[in-house]
Amino acid sequence: MNIITNNEALREQIRQYKQSGKSIGFVPTMGYLHEGHLSLIEEARKNHDIVVLSIFVNPLQFGPNEDFERYPRDAERDRKLAEHAGVDLLFMPVVDEIYPTGLSVTMLVKERVDVMCGRKREGHFDGVVTVLTKLFHLVQPDSAYFGMKDAQQVAVVEGLVQDYFFPIEIVRVPTIREEDGLAKSSRNVYLSPQERREAPILFKSLQLAKGLVERGHLKRDSIIRKVTELIHDETSGTVDYVEIYSFPQMVPVEPLQGDIIIALAVQFDKARLIDNMIISLGKKESQHV
Ligand code: PAF
Repeated sequence: MNIITNNEALREQIRQYKQSGKSIGFVPTMGYLHEGHLSLIEEARKNHDIVVLSIFVNPLQFGPNEDFERYPRDAERDRKLAEHAGVDLLFMPVVDEIYPTGLSVTMLVKERVDVMCGRKREGHFDGVVTVLTKLFHLVQPDSAYFGMKDAQQVAVVEGLVQDYFFPIEIVRVPTIREEDGLAKSSRNVYLSPQERREAPILFKSLQLAKGLVERGHLKRDSIIRKVTELIHDETSGTVDYVEIYSFPQMVPVEPLQGDIIIALAVQFDKARLIDNMIISLGKKESQHV
């Protein structure tokens, strides 16, 4: 595995890959790799000659009260995991390499951001698309891989690629789950044994919603109410939100039709869990209302 820390060397290596006609799959991360990241690498491995993984904790996407300094970092462990997973090129720049002159131009995301988690993290997605714009230019991948656990990020990145004509395919990689349905997350370790037993209810509630929607119950409010009630009745967590939008546009639709996302966040004592499900409905279904 080739490890590169500066833009010049990266550009040179990418130029060589391109010259020899190799296709490039790109997995951008902030490191501290877990199974979710490994599934993105695995997917990229299947489809491309070359897999590029970036590890860069991007200061621009952290708010003033968020944990940029405390964000977990373990370069040595990440390096081993990346190599084992079959990464060809690991790009690990320092902050000055990516932001050498401060910021003369930044990106501002106008749509898909004022819902779900984005509503509470002002500027977060501006930071995400700014760094991705830089990384996409440097790496020039054919495809970039993103996990659907962060569905809102996927929606925002798809908007970026579309609006700015990046010739890059964005690949949505499904959420990795435990056997009982709980979405894998590094935060699951903060659940108490009792909360861990309750947590699969989140996925069950999404399945309940899917079943209802697919049987023709197409009113947002009543689906949201049923999901909220199930979580409230069967877990000790507090529902932060249950929201339903068109996906990836992230706007309310009534009656539900086309591709929709049902997303939720639940606060347990020491862990806030998020999960979501995408449901594809034919346009005709709306006539059931
Ligand atoms: O999902 C992440 O880890 C980050 O938001 C990303 C896409 C690497 C941009 O910094």
